[in-house]
Amino acid sequence: MCGIVAYIGGKDAAPILLEGLARLEYRGYDSAGVAVTGKTGGLKLVKKKGRVADLAAAVPARFKGTAGIGHTRWATHGEPSDANSHPHLDTAQRFAVVHNGIIENAEELRAKLESEGVVFVSETDTEVLAHLIAAHAKDAAELEDAVRAALARVVGTYGIAVLDAERPDRIVVARNGSPIVLGIGEKEMFAASDVSALVRYTRQVVHLDDGELATVRADGFSTFTQDARVTAKQPSTVDWEEASYDTAGHAHFLIKEISEQPAAVERTLSGRVDERFATAHLGGLNLDAREARAFRRVKILGCGSAYYSGELGAQLIEELARIPAHAEPASEFRYRNPVIEADTLYIAVSQSGETYDTLAAVQEIKRKGGRVLGVVNTVGSAIARECDGGVYLHAGPEISVASTKAFTSTAVAFALIALHFGRVHDLSPADGRRICAGLKALPGQIREILAQEGSIAKLAAEYAQNAGMMFVGRVRGWPVAREGAQKLKEVSYVHAEAYPASELKHGPLALIGPELPTVAVVPDDELVEKNLTTLGEIRARHGRVLMVGHTAPDPKYAEDCILVPKNEPELDPILLGIPLQLLAYHAAVALERDVDKPRNLAKSVTVE
Ligand code: G6P
Repeated sequence: MCGIVAYIGGKDAAPILLEGLARLEYRGYDSAGVAVTGKTGGLKLVKKKGRVADLAAAVPARFKGTAGIGHTRWATHGEPSDANSHPHLDTAQRFAVVHNGIIENAEELRAKLESEGVVFVSETDTEVLAHLIAAHAKDAAELEDAVRAALARVVGTYGIAVLDAERPDRIVVARNGSPIVLGIGEKEMFAASDVSALVRYTRQVVHLDDGELATVRADGFSTFTQDARVTAKQPSTVDWEEASYDTAGHAHFLIKEISEQPAAVERTLSGRVDERFATAHLGGLNLDAREARAFRRVKILGCGSAYYSGELGAQLIEELARIPAHAEPASEFRYRNPVIEADTLYIAVSQSGETYDTLAAVQEIKRKGGRVLGVVNTVGSAIARECDGGVYLHAGPEISVASTKAFTSTAVAFALIALHFGRVHDLSPADGRRICAGLKALPGQIREILAQEGSIAKLAAEYAQNAGMMFVGRVRGWPVAREGAQKLKEVSYVHAEAYPASELKHGPLALIGPELPTVAVVPDDELVEKNLTTLGEIRARHGRVLMVGHTAPDPKYAEDCILVPKNEPELDPILLGIPLQLLAYHAAVALERDVDKPRNLAKSVTVE
């Protein structure tokens, strides 16, 4: 989605802004722009449809200014074009504005401004903001007052940064539903929509809350609310390494992140497996044993891969803790006026911690008095702050749009939660110890699976030649099959459909034939015979089958197979998902897709 970066200090702003925008490229965008100002006055602006590299090439040598704002745009209002790119200016070219989010009453405001004689040069909702700020600046003592007055007229979501040619000593930023993070440097300050744009320059950051604004100057910052009340903010330290934002010799971020999973899982587990009491230590849940026992149900909410990892989590919680658990897409949840129960524990899942639909679901639950925990990767993100407690994944930054290591670390975090809840309920110490040992074995077993990359790549290149693929699994294998299908369609654009293997005969078996191969997730559990029978039915209709499981099947069930090491049955789904990530990645490579930035998708969807 759109990205924002801002700089103010003693240095030339443009190279810093362009570097920051390059770091935000992974979020997905179609155009980019920068504006700078300095002591000599006036705004300088370059913006273009296309990549950040095209923008950098178009920035002239004399593009000097020590304060500036930059933006990568993902078109919402109006097509991708130079004119619709951000920053947007007012008519007098005094103010420059960059904006993430959607102004819902933009049409109405535009009509009003036009009736007052304002001439618009773009189709965007953001341009409205630039003209509104200019209109209010006439009676405002300070830039901050003009921005507040303009925002008071706006309905919608925004993260914005505003540059004023007459006030080159400051940049004003504001957040409402779309993230803004301040970065504190040495006699310089930064702001961005995502910490990845800042880590090269500083680790000290301040996350704005919804409804909060900030003035950033070279020597510091101040924060305040929409009604001008000053707020107090404590900086936090980002512990992600700058190197995490490079492909580090890999062809793509996606394969780098797949390969990082042993270390990511080790970090998710670190300090949390308590072998002595055969349980998990999760201090961040903020639940004592009595409270943990009191919940009768668990409801898990997330979008995309986060939702599928929630399905895996629900399965784990039901199996280990025997608490009824269910996952639901966060994007649907709040629209059905959900019943919020006092004895249900709600868990929101999000890699970015900024997905708007998930955040809105959390807010709806809280508004109705429910208790929500977060399973989140990004420390300090909006969802993490909104929740009553939770578990951080510590998977490290995930840059590729398709989620892999965050998915796996989320599943591991759910195994820890399930173990913890299990042990305050009826899970025996012996079973607890079994799960502890299983968890500790995961990183090494993931390494074993990754070592099969070469043979999986060969299979992927063959299977990618089909127009579509069916993914099947049952019970423990079902969320794995769903995520496998999701991964394949996201990155390779091969149509993929997931069905419970048991449902095949109730409809989709009609599709099966030589042209539609099936990927079957078949763990060695009590359903293995039933799964093999289904595979036999597929083979009888000349459907090609690739089985992912623990024991090589008779060729009458599957032509191809990928074997993974066996863990405990409850934890096996975590491992069974890894080959499907490699399959999707290599299918995308074979088809020469834009692996890390699939068409039409964005890494974090901060609008509805
Ligand atoms: C977007 C991405 C998906 C991701 C989903 C949830 O749709 O394209 O890959 O799974 O958002 O993201 P989150 O950051 O909340 O986990």
